[in-house]
Amino acid sequence: MSHLEEYLEANRDRFEEDLCELLRIPSISTDAEYAPEVRRAGEWMHSQFLALGLDSEIIETAGHPIIYAESPPIEGAPTALVYGHYDVQPPDPLDEWKSPPFEPQRRDGNLYARGATDDKGQMLTHVKSVQAWVEGEEQLPLQVKFVIEGEEECGSENLHAFLKDPKSQERLAADVVVVSDTSQFGPGQPAITYGLKGIAYYELHVIGPQQDLHSGSFGGAVTNPANALARMLGALVDDFGRIQVPGFYDDVIPLTDRERNMFATLAFSEEAFCEQIGVSALSGEAGFSTLERRWARPTCDVNGIWGGYQGAGSKTVLPSRASAKFSFRLVPDQDPQKLTAALREMLEELCPPGVTMELVDMHGAPGVVVSLESPYMEAAAKAIEHGFGRSPVFIRTGGSIPIVTDFKEALNADPLLLGWGLDDDNTHSPNEKFCLADFHRGIKASAYLWRELSRVDSSE
Ligand code: BES
Ligand code: ZN
Repeated sequence: MSHLEEYLEANRDRFEEDLCELLRIPSISTDAEYAPEVRRAGEWMHSQFLALGLDSEIIETAGHPIIYAESPPIEGAPTALVYGHYDVQPPDPLDEWKSPPFEPQRRDGNLYARGATDDKGQMLTHVKSVQAWVEGEEQLPLQVKFVIEGEEECGSENLHAFLKDPKSQERLAADVVVVSDTSQFGPGQPAITYGLKGIAYYELHVIGPQQDLHSGSFGGAVTNPANALARMLGALVDDFGRIQVPGFYDDVIPLTDRERNMFATLAFSEEAFCEQIGVSALSGEAGFSTLERRWARPTCDVNGIWGGYQGAGSKTVLPSRASAKFSFRLVPDQDPQKLTAALREMLEELCPPGVTMELVDMHGAPGVVVSLESPYMEAAAKAIEHGFGRSPVFIRTGGSIPIVTDFKEALNADPLLLGWGLDDDNTHSPNEKFCLADFHRGIKASAYLWRELSRVDSSE
């Protein structure tokens, strides 16, 4: 591997510069105004692949383009498919950023920018490791395919549709899917993530009088949509953190004793966790540890709530309507569609006379758990040990990457979730960052991954 390592050492600055170039493109997929920028980021990926001599195509969709690339097949070796996303979340609130979100800045060994860790920086590690093989060693030891989308942050709808087509399935066929869009367990402790949560996301509108009313003249006589909304949302979870939608837990696969023991042996400090996020106490479902609740138990959170007077000072108003965005994080084998039906029925029953409700099903995806007993897992663990100088621990996460389930179904390929990020990277928040040392360790681990995977017998 010495050639490769020399190449990686010699190109550190170049790799960082390339990442900065991509980070300067504000590819915010949820905001239609930024569609040209999202496309520009996709085109940037395409030109990277072409420069590496890969076959690459910009695949148009009803939304943002999918960028596909592949290296030549290698006889007798498995095929790896890398999935990643070049879109990012909106940077708001802007005034909380120490440096502008789309002007990457290096500070204390980190690179600060929207998308630094989620997912431009992490995804690029695999492109750069392929570059190291192609330019430093001439040929990759296995076939690597890339599918990099621009809609992960808004539900991956068009990639989902693309994967349904048998022609796409043939094109993307792979033995294993490599994804770097998660985190390490902590600084200096790399991890392989073997479980992702699913999601079911809703908007609820409660509609009352035809216009805002005086809360003195009409309060006590007219149902207040904001009060009704608060009661309805409040009824979703009881005082013990148990979700109250009928049948909600029916399909939940319980944690195994092995998992509970595995989580318990991880060095996790509740105090340090509280300090990191600036809270004085933790809460959640009774009977489960914090890591169990975060990684392997379903949850429910209000993501946004509005209605009535929001301006300065006070205004005695009985609002004509109130709304909320809320979502459940799911675990295998919960089915988001089944949940939607039960939830709708429950909310309709709770909705008081004098107001009406509208429940909008925004998006949903089931959770996933990957088997730890596979030669690909072993290969990944070895590669991480090379790249990070320490063997990985096995963790789950509360985050979701909806398309991972589709890969399993459409390609029958298990995912390898190799996260190079950290829990305090400020994903989706102001001052998102990626540790530059982890960027380079990730590239090195990825470079070794191609060698380790090439040695796995894929004919079994
Ligand atoms: N990289 C995250 C997934 C993630 C988050 C993994 C936290 C590990 C920890 C991904 O880009 C993401 O944010 N996904 C969304 C999906 C949603 C919009 C359907 C999420 O989890 O909120
Ligand atoms: Zn994200």
